[in-house]
Amino acid sequence: MRFSGKTIIVTGSGKQKGLGQGILERFADEGANCVVSDIVIDDEAQLVADGLRGRGAKVAAIACDVSDAAQCDALVLQTVDAFGAVDILVNNAGIGFMMKPLLDVVSADFAKVISVNLNGAFYCTQAAARAMVKRQEETGKGGGRIINIASQAAKTGFPHLPAYVSSKHGMIGLTRASAVELGMHGITVNAICPNHVTTALGAEQNLYFSKLLGFESVEAYVANMAAKNPMGRPGLPSDTASACAWLASEEAHYITGEALNVSGGEEMH
Ligand SMILES: NC(=O)c1ccc[n+]([C@@H]2O[C@H](COP(=O)([O-])OP(=O)(O)OC[C@H]3O[C@@H](n4cnc5c(N)ncnc54)[C@H](O)[C@@H]3O)[C@@H](O)[C@H]2O)c1
Repeated sequence: MRFSGKTIIVTGSGKQKGLGQGILERFADEGANCVVSDIVIDDEAQLVADGLRGRGAKVAAIACDVSDAAQCDALVLQTVDAFGAVDILVNNAGIGFMMKPLLDVVSADFAKVISVNLNGAFYCTQAAARAMVKRQEETGKGGGRIINIASQAAKTGFPHLPAYVSSKHGMIGLTRASAVELGMHGITVNAICPNHVTTALGAEQNLYFSKLLGFESVEAYVANMAAKNPMGRPGLPSDTASACAWLASEEAHYITGEALNVSGGEEMH
């Protein structure tokens, strides 16, 4: 129960089988108060919240479109109202739908992906860090953890994903820039770079790339991906959740500004 009494927000965590749900389940099991947040709190998000309650966690479900700075501020304020503080923020909300060749991408689509994946992480980082610093000034009890769910696409270029790849590379820049300024407040900021995980977003990408690359089926495409991975399988939400739990733990208090691959060895730099 390492996170007993701590409060975690995970943006974009309202989908079943998503990385966000997996992360919250891990923290619920280790005693944290959990904030499920997504662009809307629909029936699926309520199911995620109910599942966490079933694991014994105190849970709030708060709608937040991360591309809107005011909603990110409100997410943090409502969390502080509900639980007294924000200890851990995971910037997980992301979109990757816009799969098109570079030459066909329209500027509005490019901007949309950046506004959710990168601007959203910035707005939430700023809002949470302000609350963490304020708590330090008022109570002397400071510190916090911010974790950005980037991607293998934060370190390597992939075809037909120019906005996604750019946004994820940008998240590493945001991680480093935030880490150098927030260290003095006892706040660490790190990124996690998962390889493919078959979530809602991952399934869309599988469908597109299996067709693009001429595989006879999505299953054949995924099997080929698994065969090329040193550990012999794609990622799971629990792989990313374990890395988050470690980065949020006391064990990792001197680790900041890193971009940690969680890819079974698929990405090594
Ligand atoms: N699945 C993968 O293969 C993979 C690999 C590496 C990184 N990632 C990253 O992991 C994160 C989670 O993705 P996932 O694979 O679990 O997919 P997912 O589709 O299950 O989760 C993404 C979530 O973001 C939410 N979202 C979209 N726009 C939003 C907005 N404007 N404001 C708030 N929430 C919004 C969606 O509603 C959804 O719940 C993403 O940042 C993604 O880029 C995924």
